[in-house]
Amino acid sequence: MGSGLAVRAETRGRGSNMAQPNTAAGSAAFITLEGVDGAGKSTQARLLARALELAGREVVALREPGGTVISEKIRSLLLDPENAAMGDTCELLLYEAARAQLVHEVIAPALAAGKIVVCDRFYDSTTCYQAFADGLDRKVVHGANNLAVAGTHPDLTLVYQIEPALAVRRLNARAGTDRMEAKGMAFQERVYQGFAAIAAEEPGRVKLIDASEDIAHVFRRTVVEVCAAGVEISDDAAREALADVMLEAE
Ligand code: TMP
Repeated sequence: MGSGLAVRAETRGRGSNMAQPNTAAGSAAFITLEGVDGAGKSTQARLLARALELAGREVVALREPGGTVISEKIRSLLLDPENAAMGDTCELLLYEAARAQLVHEVIAPALAAGKIVVCDRFYDSTTCYQAFADGLDRKVVHGANNLAVAGTHPDLTLVYQIEPALAVRRLNARAGTDRMEAKGMAFQERVYQGFAAIAAEEPGRVKLIDASEDIAHVFRRTVVEVCAAGVEISDDAAREALADVMLEAE
């Protein structure tokens, strides 16, 4: 990827203490939301994107895998329950391929244009699902993540933590199970432990949020963390976003 942003970001290393934010002003511009399946992070991603728009920011809201025509095609392959024969390495490379295209086509150009990017899942999911849960070598996964993102790293990562048993109950209330969700409770437990480990390793970038509370309560925590990372969201913008998204959900 040839953007100036990638070249600049490449020099800043991976440790949270060394990381430079994706804006000259020093506030977070690239925010990712993570968690086990059923943690409610997609709702929080929608709420956050809406609140940031209401706060006057230009927002690009994305999901992973997905967000480009090519990446959405790869998503279909990854989540199709008919692809039960898919091996762990194929799975890893498909997630990374979808990510590489998303960074190249959308995320890096958006950050370079001064927009704020909110992404529902990013490379911490690969670390937790493919390394912690599936058992692939963590160093290999780390290298693959770095290859895919070409220097574009999140400034802030919000991890929505919820006991897998509760998350699975929430999932069961929804229709249909995709190939990843079908991997079972022990798998989700390892994913959960993986997110806890990442948060302990990178406390500057990765913030844990208790997702067992109701949506409004969890969103208040989301706003607190985003504001702490230097991105202003007024109480009015947060309240209006909550009203909008709850209305859409009805
Ligand atoms: P979603 O349900 O949040 O849209 O995510 C799709 C599934 O893909 C979810 O079960 C998590 C999984 N996943 C990985 O296993 N590795 C990854 O790198 C990503 C982004 C998602």
